[in-house]
Amino acid sequence: MNDEQYVMAIDQGTTSSRAMIFNHQGQVIGKAQKEFPQYFPKPGWVEHDPEEIWESVQSVMADALIQAHIPPYKIRGIGITNQRETTIIWDKKTGKPVYHAIVWQSKQTASIADDWQAAGLADKIHQKTGLVIDSYFSASKIKWLLDQVPGCRTRAENGDLLFGTIDTWLLWKLTGGKVHATDYTNASRTMLFNIHELQWDQELLTTFNIPRGLLPEVRSSSEIYGYTADYTMSGVSVPICGIAGDQQAALFGQTAFDEGNVKNTYGTGAFIVMNTGSQPILSNKGLLTTVAYGLNGQVNYALEGSIFVAGSAVQWLRDGLALVTSATETEKLANQVEGDDGIYVVPAFTGLGAPYWDQELRGAVFGLTRGTSKAAFVRATLQAIAYQTRDVVDTMVADTGLAIATLHVDGGAAQNDYLMQFQADILNTTIQRAKINETTALGAAFLAGLAVDFWHDQAELRKLYADGAQFVPTMSAVRRSRLYQGWQIAIKAAQAFEH
Ligand code: G3P
Repeated sequence: MNDEQYVMAIDQGTTSSRAMIFNHQGQVIGKAQKEFPQYFPKPGWVEHDPEEIWESVQSVMADALIQAHIPPYKIRGIGITNQRETTIIWDKKTGKPVYHAIVWQSKQTASIADDWQAAGLADKIHQKTGLVIDSYFSASKIKWLLDQVPGCRTRAENGDLLFGTIDTWLLWKLTGGKVHATDYTNASRTMLFNIHELQWDQELLTTFNIPRGLLPEVRSSSEIYGYTADYTMSGVSVPICGIAGDQQAALFGQTAFDEGNVKNTYGTGAFIVMNTGSQPILSNKGLLTTVAYGLNGQVNYALEGSIFVAGSAVQWLRDGLALVTSATETEKLANQVEGDDGIYVVPAFTGLGAPYWDQELRGAVFGLTRGTSKAAFVRATLQAIAYQTRDVVDTMVADTGLAIATLHVDGGAAQNDYLMQFQADILNTTIQRAKINETTALGAAFLAGLAVDFWHDQAELRKLYADGAQFVPTMSAVRRSRLYQGWQIAIKAAQAFEH
């Protein structure tokens, strides 16, 4: 019977929404993807229209079913995974958002974060939430909406409004406004959630002046939250039964269930996440402590290094600079360059995340000559992704004392063989690519499937996971160290210019 049923994953990312249908063997049998508009109202601001996100999700759900040639009643459960931290506030009666969604990358709330820093809140926030103070997280975005959108605070205090990250917004829409909930992983990215007590932190809510009534109920990452309303899935009532932020879902999709397992997902940004088991490890070097997943009444924690710009640097080469027409072209170009040319691109387009946490920093390029070719520029941009990853991995090793023998990778840019080889070389670590690149969606499908016994347990999931290509370091230690030193100098120079 299981063979005739499927699980659907909705992967709502920063630049596109996707739906994927998985069979019992964990194979994709239908998928659809749709990009949606990005809004940049002022320099550094990034916004989405929540209604456009919802429309794109509905459309990919329908298209994935068509592609898979299956009717909605064959879907046993739906899992949601999503771009994290992105913040929406909407009216609970009309469902109308009070403003656009403020995207995780957006810097419009940087001064609020600076104020909290200046007020000496960093330590308390780190202890309670595992996070560093940064406009990246939802808290400053909620405060901005409450204070800047006319009438928003009064309406919130009257109990007329709801806050949600994208998972919450989609769950609310999918259930016809019946369920206002999130999961531990998404809650742990708001800077309002106490990751030890696993509940919203009243002291922080009071400090930030955010009404408790706005916030969703926090639940595990794998359980039935509600059922699809009449207007979705052609009127079939399907359980929505898995939720995790996209980086945590990728960790789960990689079946990185053991303490010390690490993955890097090269998406818009790159996010290196280590499963640290049942204990949260607080970093003193700029990594985040976050919830990896909540399952069967237990929570696994993770250490995370968040890099804001990875795949989006490749997008910049394609759409911003028009140096390439496709992302795949970058691999060919990078392979054409011989020797080292001392060019460094620091793609700090929206500041730098871990381990620097520099909101103000902007991008820089060093080492250009009259002879610098397009190929060399492209290669330096790819290399920057690998250098940033090394910054985080070195920090993670220093923080945990654990050696990372293999880095598991997935996501768009992980398909770039040049980048993966350079990554292995600059880290001096084996890079293991997942066979299925869609580990984020697979993780959401796994979480949903476990909740409805489509898959029985994690041991069964492990059997579904398969390795893809492996990249082994071949670079000499001398060259590795020379190249990486150049990167560290480039970062310092960019910081000196900006501050
Ligand atoms: O924290 C932001 C992250 O969830 C965004 O992921 O895949 O859109 O780069 P992605």
